Amino acid sequence: MQILMMVGSEMGNAEMAGDLVKDELDEQGHDVELFSEGDASDASLEEQEILLLITSTTGLGDIPQNLEEIFEELTEARPDLSQLRFGLVGLGDRNYGETFCGAPKKWLALLVELGAELVGEVLYLDATDNPAPDEDALAWLPGWLALLDA
Ligand SMILES: Cc1cc2nc3c(=O)[nH]c(=O)nc-3n(C[C@H](O)[C@H](O)[C@H](O)COP(=O)(O)O)c2cc1C
Repeated sequence: MQILMMVGSEMGNAEMAGDLVKDELDEQGHDVELFSEGDASDASLEEQEILLLITSTTGLGDIPQNLEEIFEELTEARPDLSQLRFGLVGLGDRNYGETFCGAPKKWLALLVELGAELVGEVLYLDATDNPAPDEDALAWLPGWLALLDA
């Protein structure tokens, strides 16, 4: 499958998860493009069919800096993404209370609003309960891939 992976990370945890997941997808023979910086035209989501977004949360429920630009552009431009199916892995920390996993939740709302279809369940990872988010994301992957295939 052709898959666009977008990874939002401040301190490297989501990046580590993204790397491990990408290695596995590559090994399985998928054609994976990694997006971790740039604007909406670089990612050209309108031309993609499958997106895997892995993002942590920063600030008070905020999107990591490396995906801020594309998030704002998509919010403004509101492209039709009804051709897009996506999976979502969100990293956060429950100690932040109401802003727990704010960034993946904002992405989820935006992508669904733009017509994209969430495949499977969002994997929310709490830094306290999930000290190895890369392993958890890897364990979540086969279920997501199976649903995409179905
Ligand atoms: C400055 C800072 C602010 C954070 N704010 C939130 C937050 O509002 N909500 C949340 O769920 N997690 C928050 N976190 C927790 C991170 O999302 C979590 O530690 C995650 O594993 C970091 O992944 P990263 O290394 O890829 O950025 C924050 C972490 C830091 C350092």
